Formats: sequence, structure tokens, C-alpha cells
Amino acid sequence: MQDSNFRAAQAFLLGAKNFWTTSMYQELRSQYERRVDSRNASSIEPRDAVAEIEQDVTYRFFAWLERHLQRMKYSSRYGIVPYHAAQRDRLMQEAGFALNDEYTPTVDDKFPLPKYYKSMDVHQHEGGLWSDMSAGFAYEYGARTTTPLISDSHEDLHNRFTALVAGDRDFKQILDLGCGFGKSTRPFVNLFPGARVEAVDLSAPCLYVASHFARQGQTPNVHYSQQDARETRFDDESFDLVTSTMLLHELPVKSILSLFEESFRLLQPGGRMAHLDFHILPDEFDRLMHYGHARRNNEIFMPGIVELDLPKTLTEIGFRDISIERFKENEDMDLETHDAWRFPWTTISASKPS
Ligand SMILES: C[S@@+](CC[C@H](N)C(=O)[O-])C[C@H]1O[C@@H](n2cnc3c(N)ncnc32)[C@H](O)[C@@H]1O
Repeated sequence: MQDSNFRAAQAFLLGAKNFWTTSMYQELRSQYERRVDSRNASSIEPRDAVAEIEQDVTYRFFAWLERHLQRMKYSSRYGIVPYHAAQRDRLMQEAGFALNDEYTPTVDDKFPLPKYYKSMDVHQHEGGLWSDMSAGFAYEYGARTTTPLISDSHEDLHNRFTALVAGDRDFKQILDLGCGFGKSTRPFVNLFPGARVEAVDLSAPCLYVASHFARQGQTPNVHYSQQDARETRFDDESFDLVTSTMLLHELPVKSILSLFEESFRLLQPGGRMAHLDFHILPDEFDRLMHYGHARRNNEIFMPGIVELDLPKTLTEIGFRDISIERFKENEDMDLETHDAWRFPWTTISASKPS
């Protein structure tokens, strides 16, 4: 596949996604607000408004585009997956997959991947993050435009979350669960150069890409390993911070509970757990968008973390000082203005008592 064809096709898809993210979203949102506006004599209940919108042709077109722009982005003739698979050997060589040095990730080709993980192509990433060694490169490329309004450097959201979690604490032993290609790990590595940072994921292809970035950035204080976040190999009380970004919604509810219990086991007394994920959906329209996205993007477990009684669950495990807050992915954004489609990020944090 010619590079120029790939780039032109991807630019076209991104243009369409921008239209979807702004104009189409705004149109649906204003339809909703008109229907539920109490100053309007024919105003109706939020649930009924959403039910009406679901029958509307604009919503159906919006839903179709959401599904198929993503499909085309990943697996069409000029998709990210075939593009990177065709260059697999060169990419692996350039990224030092064969090197054996302090940055090399710990992986095991016989690692037992959970059934839920292999049962569908999350994000419509054909073959998932595990079946092909080019998958980490494809995911890194794709993630640059997941939220078209965020810059493609991956930095804003992750740096903001890291700064929020850090507060004024100086963490010394940090664990990032479900680190992917290290996008969520790097801000912690950079903010805490004196800390030991461990980062785990199920995807060997992603861990190699993450390690390549660590080698490029000369940050030997991070180590990447293939482990299941629900049951790691680390000793009890190994960390003063356990974190994850965009992981919980990919797990079935039972697995989320196991992950919280595992985090509690791994934390030292007084340690903090902090996740960036989904939970708060301010209104029925947000719920329509979020649950629709879950279906259309093959993220079927997404409702789990939204519907969990988090204060009760975390308290029963033993956590205290629980905080669940809406999160702004960039400084300029206003959480009350519905100017564009965005993920409804929520921070979920708690401490292990001292
Ligand atoms: C949406 S990605 C987020 C990656 C990264 N944290 C970021 O912010 O870019 C979710 C990651 O969780 C990983 N994952 C899913 N289930 C996991 C599990 N049980 N243990 C470890 N990693 C898991 C996936 O392989 C994927 O890399």
C-alpha cells in the first residue's frame, strides 16, 4: 500500500469524524434540549426524549457513521491494521524488538490471555491487541485520533490526570495497570524520575512499543511486563500508587472487582489508588451517547463500571478517602457546554488506610 494513499484515506476519515464530533453531535444535543426544555409547552421527560431521538434519521446516520468510520479507519483497504501489518518486520526491527537490554519487556508467548480479552475485537481493532506483533504500532497510530479534538501528541489528557493524581505527593513505587503502549505510564515516569515504575498489560505487541519509547527517552526507571491486572506477580504492599487509565471499562464487572482487590493487596498502608475511566453520566443524553458508543465500538463491558456502586464496593474492600469526580481532558474545556462529542471521563480514587 502506498504511503500517500494511506495518509489521504485516513485524512478523509478524520475529516468525516470531525464533522460527526461537532456538527452532528451538536444537532442531536440541541434536539434533546428542545424536547426537554420546560419552557416549551410540549416538553417531555428525558427518557422519552432519548427514545424519540433514537428513532430520528439524524441519530441513525450518526450511529452508522460512528460504527463505520471506525471500521474503515482500522480495517478497510487503507486501514491502520493492514498498513502496519504490511510493514511488521521493518517496524519491529526499528523499534528494537530483538534487543535484550534493560528496556526489554518481560513477556511470555504462552501467557494465558483471558477469554473476555480474546472474545471480540475491542475498538474494532481487527485481531485485537494480541494476535499480531504489529498491533502495538497500529494502536499507537489509531489512538492519535480517537478524540479528534485532542492534540495528536497523546499528552494533554494523560499529563493532566498524572498531575491531578500526584497532587503534592512524592510517590516512590508506582504501578500502571493496562499500560498499553505506555501513553499513560510516561507522564508518571517523567514526573517521578526517582520512582520505580512498573507497568503491566496483556498485550505483548504493545509492551514492546512501550519499551521502545522508554529506550528512546532513556528512562530506565520504568519496567514493562506482561501480566494480568486482576492477578499480578508483585508482592503484597509493593507500591504507594496503583493507577490505570482507560482500563476498567474494558473489563467485565467481576474482573473490575478483582482488580480493585488486587490493587488493595499491592498497596502499602497509606497508599493511593487512582483510575481514569467512566462512571458519572450527567444526563439521559450522555447515557444514550455512551451506551451507544459501547455497542458500536465493540466495548460491550462499558456499562459495568458506570453501574457499579463504587463507594459501597470500595468501602467493602477496605478503601477509605474515596473520591469520584468528573475530569476535564483539557484546560479550556467546559464540562457544562455540549459543543462536541467527548468521552465522559471520571476519576476514581481511594486510599488504603495507614
Ligand atoms: C484502552 S487501553 C489503555 C492503554 C493505556 N492505559 C492508555 O491510557 O493509553 C486498555 C489496555 O488495557 C489492556 N488490558 C485489558 N485487560 C487487561 C488486564 N486484565 N490486565 C492488563 N491489561 C489489560 C489492553 O491490552 C489495553 O492495552
